[in-house]
Order: sequence, then C-alpha cells, then structure tokens
Amino acid sequence: MVDTEESGMSAKQTLLRTLPADLDPARLPKHVAVIMDGNGRWAQSRGLPRIVGHQRGVDALKNLLRCCDDWGIGALTAYAFSTENWGRPLEEVDFLMTLFERVLRQQLREMMAENVRIRFVGHLETLPPSLQSEIERAMAETQGNTGIQFTVATNYGGRQEIVEACRAIAQQVRQGSLDPDCIDQTLFSQHLYTANLGDPDLLIRTSGEMRISNFLLWQVAYAELYVTETLWPAFDREAFHRALTSYQQRDRRFGKVRPR
Ligand code: IPE
Ligand code: IPE
Ligand code: MG
Repeated sequence: MVDTEESGMSAKQTLLRTLPADLDPARLPKHVAVIMDGNGRWAQSRGLPRIVGHQRGVDALKNLLRCCDDWGIGALTAYAFSTENWGRPLEEVDFLMTLFERVLRQQLREMMAENVRIRFVGHLETLPPSLQSEIERAMAETQGNTGIQFTVATNYGGRQEIVEACRAIAQQVRQGSLDPDCIDQTLFSQHLYTANLGDPDLLIRTSGEMRISNFLLWQVAYAELYVTETLWPAFDREAFHRALTSYQQRDRRFGKVRPR
C-alpha cells in the first residue's frame, strides 16, 4: 500500500520508512521525550482556529510514534497537557479533553496491532471520568504488548509529581514501613509517575521555546536538549532525522572527562 497525504504521510516521508543511512543504529537514543509545542501558532498562521492545530498535532504524534518504531527507538514520551494548561479558555480545554478521548478510542486497535504499550503519566484522577475510563482501558489492554513504550503526559506537572512522590514516601515513614536512611535516588524514582521507565536520552521541544515548562524535571537531569523552530504539527520524519543527527553529534560526558 502506498501512503498518501491523506493517510498522514507524504510521498517524501515514505522514503524515510527505514532508519536514514547516516544515522548510527547503535547510538540512537533509547528514550525520546517531546514537548509538542506550537499547535496554536501553526493554526493561527494559516488563519485557522487553534483547535485545528491540535487536531494536526495528533497526526504529527501518530507519525512520530510510528517513526520511532520503524527506526528502532524503544520509548517515546509526549507532553500532551500540563497542569498549567487548565488556565486556557474553557472551550480549548474541553476540546482537548474530548480530542484525547476520541483519539484514544480510535487508536486502540491500531496500537494493539502494532504491539504498542501505552501508559499515561500525570495527575490522572482529576481528568474527566470518561477520559479516565479510556485511559484505564488502553493501559490495561496494551499492558502485555512488547513493542514500543509510549507514554503520554496528561495533566502532568513535574513539580506536582515530585510533591506526590514526597508525600507517598513520608506516609511510609510515618507508618514505620520505611527508614529515612533508605531514601535514595533509586527509591525516589520509583515513586514518580515514571517508575520503571528509563530517563529520556533526548528531549525535543518544537516551536523554538527555550524552556522546560514543568516537564519531567527529575528525569531530564542528563537528557540532551534539542529545540527546533518547527511548529509541532509540521514536525515530520525529516525534522526528527535532524534532531537525531544533532543528538549523534553530542559528546555525552555525564560530568566526566574523556580519556585521551
Ligand atoms: C501545544 O501547542 C499543545 C498543548 C499545550 C496542549 P500550543 O497550544 O501551546 O500552541 P502555541 O504554543 O500556543 O502555539
Ligand atoms: C507545554 O507547552 C505543555 C505541552 C506541550 C503540553 P505550553 O505551550 O503549555 O508551554 P508554555 O506556556 O510555552 O510554557
Ligand atoms: Mg504553547
């Protein structure tokens, strides 16, 4: 079958079906995280309402997930909605919640067929109940899948995540089941939403903004940062190729010095 624009992948994109030859498969990031920013600006620059940008943003995410899978990247984490995004106009927030629910329902079968394991991280308890049900269903159904680990940060805030972890740890200390001397980085990580998911190696932010916006504050301690001016709905395989090329040019020293 030939992919068309309609199926979300242009002819040029199809050429990038497999890992580009100039990338070293042994030095790919194991885990890529992405701050999908610029949906509103993408739409507004075309005279369209912001929500159209969010719809096109979903297509960009679907394409990136398939691309990671095709190119051999084992984990993708995407920032879909922050704890700060509740401050947007009610219509936009409502639209996003409905969009997440619809896309999840529509994509579940495809994710099963593609062996994707989906997981949501964030303060999920305060999302609309119907969205929570779809989330639970998708996580439960794909739990046994062995393909790409796809994590969606929804109602996610890095500071909130750290506070919740502290509270859970403090409760165990109060109950007498945990000795404070046993609190170390490994134990702390296990109390984050992302427990058992490795830290991202590469964090991509689209739309040119040079900030973290409360995303994965603990986990990005040693991630390589890549910011592109490309707006999220336009982030395609070529754009991802450029991000990976940049990543492979980095010298990840982790505070050490290279032996001469
Ligand atoms: C990112 O795009 C999507 C969400 C935060 C949900 P924006 O909606 O932030 O788009 P801009 O930054 O206003 O262009
Ligand atoms: C970050 O984008 C949140 C998501 C991509 C979900 P924002 O558009 O909300 O971030 P700011 O306002 O530029 O910091
Ligand atoms: Mg934005």
